[in-house]
Amino acid sequence: MGKLNVLICGGGRTGHLNAVLFKQQPGVHVALLTSRADVVERLGDADAALAALLPEGGQLTGKPDLVTDQPALAARDADVVIVTVPAHARPALLRKLAPHLPADKPVYVGAIPGFCGFDWLAEQALAARPNAVIWGMKDVPHTAFDLVPGESVRLGGAKSALYVGTHQREGAAAREALLGHLRRLYTAPVELLDHYLEITLTPGNPIMHPSVVYGLIGPYGQWRDRPFEQPLCWWTDCAELSAYFLERSDEESQALCRAVERRLGVDLGSVLPLKQEIVDAYGDQIGDSATMLSVLRTNRAYDAIVAPLVRDADGYRIDRASRAFHEDVAYGLALLVEMGRRLQVPLPHIEEIYRWNVQYMGGLRDCALDYFPANWPA
Ligand SMILES: NC(=O)c1ccc[n+]([C@@H]2O[C@H](COP(=O)([O-])OP(=O)(O)OC[C@H]3O[C@@H](n4cnc5c(N)ncnc54)[C@H](OP(=O)(O)O)[C@@H]3O)[C@@H](O)[C@H]2O)c1
Repeated sequence: MGKLNVLICGGGRTGHLNAVLFKQQPGVHVALLTSRADVVERLGDADAALAALLPEGGQLTGKPDLVTDQPALAARDADVVIVTVPAHARPALLRKLAPHLPADKPVYVGAIPGFCGFDWLAEQALAARPNAVIWGMKDVPHTAFDLVPGESVRLGGAKSALYVGTHQREGAAAREALLGHLRRLYTAPVELLDHYLEITLTPGNPIMHPSVVYGLIGPYGQWRDRPFEQPLCWWTDCAELSAYFLERSDEESQALCRAVERRLGVDLGSVLPLKQEIVDAYGDQIGDSATMLSVLRTNRAYDAIVAPLVRDADGYRIDRASRAFHEDVAYGLALLVEMGRRLQVPLPHIEEIYRWNVQYMGGLRDCALDYFPANWPA
């Protein structure tokens, strides 16, 4: 098997973890593009090692072959590019990267996770690189947490199967070649989805975080206009009202899927309601799968994930700078609202939650509508 040059963009939790995992595979050359000078310096040391700490104890080690903050150096020979920066950081990253991608061979540019319409962004940002094959993964292959930059990251729950979508323009040969590369990189089974919208419309953080925040501190929330006395967890401390708004948002998201199916003639049968998605993904890690609230509160994989808070004189408030807003609202929810508007699907709860969240975060600076094709769903 020949050498495969993989470029991982983003030295966060997902970037670190995937770098170690890929280095377990023979013949895979890993470059890591990071803006973190400390990570570049530490991993530049010949003796340094990067560790992925495993849930059952023990660790895997493996150091990327190249760690740099220079896009030109990182992208030079890339066969596969994996974007792991959050959705609101992707446009700037792709702008920096595009001129340096190889032009003389297919280069498979994807995002994990591929939500927030990465296919549309990449099509626009990589217009000068028609050799780019655009793809995204439905979810992260593993959760990743407890990052010590340049040293270690903890691997959480692994997905039992990985689902990958490609831009609609990609042909069968490109899709098969991509599958070959990804099956070489990941040990879990990798399957191709029929349509990228199966990723974009899968319910997840874009409806989850904004609904939870709205139920807590929105106009009907128990913490409206008053701070939390102590830190709280996203899911273990989920309020009933938050679960209610999440269920209503999920129903509307399913209605949007049905409208997209009718309009575009695509099959979105793989896009399940959120509770089902979570139960399928986490199985017996969930103590009580009866309701949305009990699923969120009793999922061991969701334990102890602290909500983004800032401390002030009176207590804790939800951090307006969090990616729960700048990624999930501006790049996730904004797309759903606009799709509903164009297809004339009523999304009253989603719109109400979106409007309130946008106001709470201080308005939109940039968002997914910057690249959502003006002619969609044509
Ligand atoms: N960690 C998980 O278990 C998990 C689970 C589900 C989904 N996700 C998704 O996976 C993606 C990556 O998550 P992650 O947990 O790996 O993130 P992370 O640990 O916060 O790392 C993200 C990296 O992106 C780069 N970046 C550039 N601009 C940024 C900005 N404005 N804000 C934050 N980061 C910026 C930084 O890398 P450099 O400084 O190296 O450029 C940063 O380290 C996100 O879309 C997230 O929603 C992660």
